[in-house]
Formats: sequence, C-alpha cells, structure tokens
Amino acid sequence: MVKKLLLMMMMLWSPTYYWVVSAKKVEASIDNKLGIGKNLSVHCQSKDDDLGEHSISNDESFKWEFSPNVWETTLYFCVLGWERVRSYEFDAYSFGRDRSRCETRCAWLVSIEGIYALNDQTTLWEFFYPWPPLS
Ligand SMILES: *[C@@H]1O[C@H](CO)[C@@H](O)[C@H](O)[C@H]1NC(C)=O
Repeated sequence: MVKKLLLMMMMLWSPTYYWVVSAKKVEASIDNKLGIGKNLSVHCQSKDDDLGEHSISNDESFKWEFSPNVWETTLYFCVLGWERVRSYEFDAYSFGRDRSRCETRCAWLVSIEGIYALNDQTTLWEFFYPWPPLS
C-alpha cells in the first residue's frame, strides 16, 4: 500500500517514470517441443486477462503480448497439459523474477523432460521446471 502511494507520487512528480515503465512491451511465448504427434494444452491468465485454453501441436507455439503494469505486480500463470502430465501450473511471467531476466521476450520451451526458459540477457536456455515425478 505504501509502495503504491509512493509510486503514484513519483508518477505525478515525474511523468517520465510512468512512461518508461508502462511503454515496455513483453512478448511471451510457449513452444511445444514434446515431439511428433504430441499436443500441448495451454491456458494462461493474469488477474484480469484470461487468454483461454488452446491446443498447441508439436513445433507450434502460443504467443501473447502485454505491458507490465506500473505497480510492478504483473503475473501471468499458465496451466499446461499433455499425455503424461494432465495439469501443471507455473508462472510464465512474474515481474519480480522476470523484469531483467526477460525484459522484453519471455520464451518457454516445453519438452518431455520439463520446461526451459530463455534468459534474454544471456540468450541461453535454462532448465526451469522438471515435471512432477510419476506417482
Ligand atoms: C492433436 O491436435 C490435432 C489438431 O487439433 C488433432 O487433429 C489431433 O487428433 C490431436 N492429437 C492427439 C494425439 O490428441
């Protein structure tokens, strides 16, 4: 709450602050690299933006764009599903984690072993989330 008030005051004092933070667009994508014939279901949403459920074929990707809000609270979470993992939820964008890691391009790659994320600063793919073990 205090942080929000401070931000609001900064915006009034310094219009450029608001412009710099809100003008930046982030391109997010989730690539299905599960292999031939394996579809991936993707359902992403934020607090006020539901992108719907989509079935993505192998080698296809799901993409969207957004501008992180000035309150620095932007969060998109996605639920993935495929033949072995019925439902797996992860944060596809979280401002605190991603503001510098993937400032303008947040790419995810979904594979049999788990989920990789592109570090846009190093341009390296990092193994981020393994699938939960088979029960
Ligand atoms: C994958 O999706 C395609 C296109 O929607 C569909 O034709 C196909 O039957 C699906 N394959 C499986 C294994 O569900």
